[in-house]
Amino acid sequence: MVISDLFGKIIGFISKRCSWWWEIPSSRDEFTKAILTVSIAVLIIVCYTFLIRKWKKESVELPPGPRGLPLVGNLLSLDLELHRHFAKLARTYGPIMSLRLGSKLCVVVSSSTVAKEILKDHDTIFANRDVPVAARALSYGNHDIVWSPYGPHWRMLRKVCVGELLNNTNLDAFKSLRQRKVNQMVHNIYTKRGTPIVVGEHIFETIFGTMTSMLWGGTHEAGESSAEFRQVMNEVVRLFSKPNISDIFPILARFDIQGVVRQFRKVVLWHDEFFNQIIDQRLELGRRGEEENRPEIKDFLQLLLKRNEQGDPMTTAQIKALLMDFVYAGNDSVTTVLEWAMAKLMDHPEAMRRAQEELDQVVGLSGTVEEAHLSKLHYLSAAVKEVMRLHPIAPLLLPHSPSQSCVVGGYMVPKDTQVLVNAWAIQRDPEAWDKPLEFQPERFLMATTKYDYSGNDLCYIPFGSGRRICAGMALAERLIMYTLASLLHSFDWRLPEGTKVDLSDKFGMTLKMKTPLVAIPTPRLSNSELYA
Ligand code: HEM
Ligand SMILES: *[C@@H]1O[C@H](CO)[C@@H](O)[C@H](O)[C@H]1NC(C)=O
Ligand SMILES: *[C@@H]1O[C@H](CO)[C@@H](O)[C@H](O)[C@H]1NC(C)=O
Repeated sequence: MVISDLFGKIIGFISKRCSWWWEIPSSRDEFTKAILTVSIAVLIIVCYTFLIRKWKKESVELPPGPRGLPLVGNLLSLDLELHRHFAKLARTYGPIMSLRLGSKLCVVVSSSTVAKEILKDHDTIFANRDVPVAARALSYGNHDIVWSPYGPHWRMLRKVCVGELLNNTNLDAFKSLRQRKVNQMVHNIYTKRGTPIVVGEHIFETIFGTMTSMLWGGTHEAGESSAEFRQVMNEVVRLFSKPNISDIFPILARFDIQGVVRQFRKVVLWHDEFFNQIIDQRLELGRRGEEENRPEIKDFLQLLLKRNEQGDPMTTAQIKALLMDFVYAGNDSVTTVLEWAMAKLMDHPEAMRRAQEELDQVVGLSGTVEEAHLSKLHYLSAAVKEVMRLHPIAPLLLPHSPSQSCVVGGYMVPKDTQVLVNAWAIQRDPEAWDKPLEFQPERFLMATTKYDYSGNDLCYIPFGSGRRICAGMALAERLIMYTLASLLHSFDWRLPEGTKVDLSDKFGMTLKMKTPLVAIPTPRLSNSELYA
């Protein structure tokens, strides 16, 4: 037989080369010797491949990515419109890629499959944050929830935020506050009917007012402090959107070359004074026993102080950090989504018409929108989802960071890497979405359960997904739906002569419209008293 011939030849070859083996006195039988030889050879090959594989596993490569220069890495070739730039690079380097920003390693994820590994399968590992120096200066030493590392402290804050402050009972309790603020907005716009207005400014007034009233408004409704607070917040936003050398070269952080930390310290001091003042005022009211006869004092500050009296207290720094997180996280995000929604609907008159028809059916032209109507506004809800698909205000979510090295998509992501998930690219991925660039609210009407805000389907993650998903989702949804419904129900909107909606965006702390929307409102309700 051929095989036994071959065997004979191999054995002959081996016996010539390794005659010492054959001369071992005890192994006299040729056949046994042959078997033994082959077994040893097989054993060696098996061990070898096993070891190689193991070794390979231990030295899994970093994700592919553009080659950078020494020292600065890919910094100089970085386009500031990061979401677009990363999406373009991903077409060359795939759904997981790495870049060096100065001395810092950054991994960018651009597909729902890899995003699932990070935000679901390895959720616990990736639940840390990569904290920019600016945030470090501002977060009361990581006492806040947004930038706090994953652990017991974060878990406690999360429970207070989602389980207590922002639970349904409390959200319902602020219904009349939201109604007051939105009615005020409708009234203000009514006084400017027929003239062009900057839509975002009216929205911002409303959302900022609602947020601050809900947080500490009991003793600080409007007034000078709010104006001042606003100014400081604008300064913070300005500081935050400047790129930071210390972030890129952490080793230089202690020198604070751009003076960021110094500037921030000034701002932090101001914040601190502001918060101390409102907390002191409130405690003083409590001491005088006056809060009982002032029912309007039922804001988050009061809930937090009450909570402290009942044991399980939070420190003052934690309370201040939490109030700050909420006002920063809540104002800009909700305002920006609403501005996009108005622009998008004005650019798609057919969708606008459908949304208004639905409102006429559910609310009617002889009444105003109430929150109880919202659950019946299916088309409007789908339109908002579609707006957040095409224009996620946090296109790269917030930076995640693994607490230990982890293999993702076949590549190594080392501990403490900055991990960015390109939600903007994922939500426009032609593999997951039919005609991804078209504005079609209908796609969410048909799949209401598949794509909700919970991040269960990683193709749709405007609020993120997993443990670190947005803590204010429930509040955000109510604010957006209620404000938008009121704007569309109370007014028809048209563009000033000769203008067009400019839908280009601008990357920054949030993804905003490059050109603010200017539009002319015309009242559409039957009774002018509804605008009073
Ligand atoms: C349309 C409005 C909003 C959008 C699109 C949005 C989106 C997001 C996103 C993408 C994240 C990061 C998720 C991640 O890291 O994977 C986040 C985190 C967060 N958001 Fe929002 N957000 C909105 C409104 C709000 C509001 C109104 C509040 C509070 C009142 C809020 C509070 C927070 C907090 C506290 C975190 C940090 C959660 C943590 O790190 O555990 N957000 N949000
Ligand atoms: C919501 O939180 C409050 C405390 O702020 C608590 O008293 C209430 O029972 C909670 N409600 C729900 C439904 O969990
Ligand atoms: C609130 O959000 C608006 C709109 O994004 C922004 O223009 C404004 O600066 C923010 N205000 C504060 C006080 O942060």
